[in-house]
Amino acid sequence: EKAGFDHFMLKEIYEQPKAYRDTMGSRLSDDGKSVVLNEIKMTPEEVKAIHNIHIVACGTAYHAGLVGKSVIEHLARIPVETDVASEYRYRSPIITKNTLVVVVSQSGETADTLAALREAKRCGARVVAITNVVGSSVAREADDVIVTWAGPEIAVASTKAYTSQLIAFYLFGLYLAQTLGTQEEAVLAETIAALQALPEQVEAILEQAETYKAVAEKIATHENLFFIGRGLDYAVAQEGSLKLKEISYIHSEAYASGELKHGTLALIEEGIPVIALATQDALLEKTVSNIQEVSARGAYVIGIGMEGSPSLEKSVNEQFLIPGTLSLLTPALSVVPLQLLSYYASLARGNDVDKPRNLAKSVTVE
Ligand code: M6R
Repeated sequence: EKAGFDHFMLKEIYEQPKAYRDTMGSRLSDDGKSVVLNEIKMTPEEVKAIHNIHIVACGTAYHAGLVGKSVIEHLARIPVETDVASEYRYRSPIITKNTLVVVVSQSGETADTLAALREAKRCGARVVAITNVVGSSVAREADDVIVTWAGPEIAVASTKAYTSQLIAFYLFGLYLAQTLGTQEEAVLAETIAALQALPEQVEAILEQAETYKAVAEKIATHENLFFIGRGLDYAVAQEGSLKLKEISYIHSEAYASGELKHGTLALIEEGIPVIALATQDALLEKTVSNIQEVSARGAYVIGIGMEGSPSLEKSVNEQFLIPGTLSLLTPALSVVPLQLLSYYASLARGNDVDKPRNLAKSVTVE
């Protein structure tokens, strides 16, 4: 059932191109100009009445929600907050009937996410669920459901579910934008074309999977490391850090690059690995100067850049490149190298990759 792969996690990493294709599936019009989200039953008037959006989820799904926030704000110009479900209910969030709440859950059974959904409904909000399990509790209780067609995810560490959630957010962001008229048709068409190119681009990254092994084995000898990034790169850094902790048991932290000098820089010492995401062209110069801050203190920097962007080679110890795409779409590519680094680091440490200690696939207690 592992189809020749050593672990479910690796199999699921390789299933991502298919998961992207299946999740986009029939939701893009044949002429490539618009998104067709028939599962969203909102009328255009209801969409126009949305004042704000709350995205609520746990763990990796929360990290997808961080990307979702940027995507929706960028494309549809609606203010979005993203919250961890276990915090959301207790901060007495301001939910009105003009708030749209988006819950994200691979399993659709996470207790905190379900409780947040119920709280949102109690306050009169409409709830859209992004889930991988048709007929799950979250799917049954939400008003509208966007199913991620990733197929069953067995490994505790989420990979293809996360990336399919990203695809769902791109589709939803485009849907809102086209309903609200916040983007030119050409921008929508360009974004859709770039989305359609993603599966092949992931395949190209996976063809080079072995090149991450040596660096992962080096990382595996450390007890601490950092991920840094700005904007969407910071959102992906947080997911990369969780993945690494979860299966390799290496302590890591993800930092917004600009925050380093407000405290964390004190922890940078000779040889400490720093994984720097630098795929956002508009922020590149600033990110490079943050990379230099850690390099100057002896960090071993692994840079993740993008083909076609200025090279990071001079500022980093190791450079990996993702294929060129729109800045908004980079998370759907840049997370793949981080998944591979975590996988190989866990393997090098002799851990149980698919069943990390202390963790369950589905967390049904609050
Ligand atoms: O099923 P859910 O998406 O609601 O699960 C949420 C988290 O428990 C889950 O993403 C967890 O963080 C993963 N094990 C991370 O890889």
